[in-house]
Amino acid sequence: MPSLEVNVARVESRSALWVDRGLLEKLPTLVSIDHYSSVVVVADKGAARATSRIQASLQLSSSSILAIEGGEGQKSVDGLVHIWNFFVDKKLDRKSLIITVGGGATSDLVGFAAASFMRGVAFIHVPTTLLAQVDASIGGKSGINFKGIKNLIGSIAQPCAVIIDIDTLSTLPERELRSGFAEVIKHGLIADANYFKEVASQNCAQWSPEELVSIVFRSCDIKKRVVEADESEQGPRKTLNFGHSIGHAIESYTLENGPPLTHGEAISIGMIGEAFISYRLGKISQEDLSAIERGLENTGLPTRLPLPISPDRLRELISKDKKNVSGRVKWTLLNAIGVAVFDVEIPEKLIHEALSHIQSGGSCA
Ligand code: GLY
Repeated sequence: MPSLEVNVARVESRSALWVDRGLLEKLPTLVSIDHYSSVVVVADKGAARATSRIQASLQLSSSSILAIEGGEGQKSVDGLVHIWNFFVDKKLDRKSLIITVGGGATSDLVGFAAASFMRGVAFIHVPTTLLAQVDASIGGKSGINFKGIKNLIGSIAQPCAVIIDIDTLSTLPERELRSGFAEVIKHGLIADANYFKEVASQNCAQWSPEELVSIVFRSCDIKKRVVEADESEQGPRKTLNFGHSIGHAIESYTLENGPPLTHGEAISIGMIGEAFISYRLGKISQEDLSAIERGLENTGLPTRLPLPISPDRLRELISKDKKNVSGRVKWTLLNAIGVAVFDVEIPEKLIHEALSHIQSGGSCA
């Protein structure tokens, strides 16, 4: 079965990563649970089917499973305390194993709870959304939101394994699948032009489960290489932020003012804004910019804001991004399709041009 190993030097840890169908039934062959003093599962209530499969496969009692609400709203101090209380009630020790099941918000929250409990207890991610499979579950970022700022408190701690069972996507709403495809397309744009062409060639709902195994594996492989090169995001890991400076501003705005866009929808529009900046700086051609727009549209993702948001308001939100240094925005841009550059500073006027470009009805050049 397709597998990878993510090796990071900083803490000399490694994560085994498997991608295939039907993996949850094979868990006993992938994880030696006898190694651990106890095993608990913290699972998103929305991932009940995957959780039952894990429970049956590892023969766990119901009392070793904590079901939590999924979503960003849980990534709070209260959410964290709820999980720590469960760990204390279950008498976890340093040799215990925690299995997280659900989307990216669950792996962020429970990964942080595990990484901070007793200075770190082993954990395995079982991501059940495409977004979590290709992004949140790889690379060890975990944390909670604080004072209205996403992931303000957190850590980087690697899971001991990531187990991606593509069958968990069969019940994923199409809008959530599309949201994950924004990150898949981003992987192509920052690292592999051929991969971009391939994954942006059709509506994402048309891929078969077998094709999704291959797509998820290739995206994980791209992300693994980036994380291995720079676990702590001092350099190349910043390339993963392509589309996210503008995208996070759009996501925050629509969360507060509604109707909310998914992360992937906001990042898709953000990638158009940041590809436009790359084009205006002469880094990519107008044909490249059009190909990126077409690719996102083929997939079913938006390329323009669904409602007008004033460029000034978006600019204000961009300035609050925690990626900024000394108040200056450091952009990740494209030097070509498949090649990203990071820490680029650009004139203020160009930011406004890009924010006008993504308004509905904006034109390509
Ligand atoms: N989600 C981007 C990263 O893991 O660096």
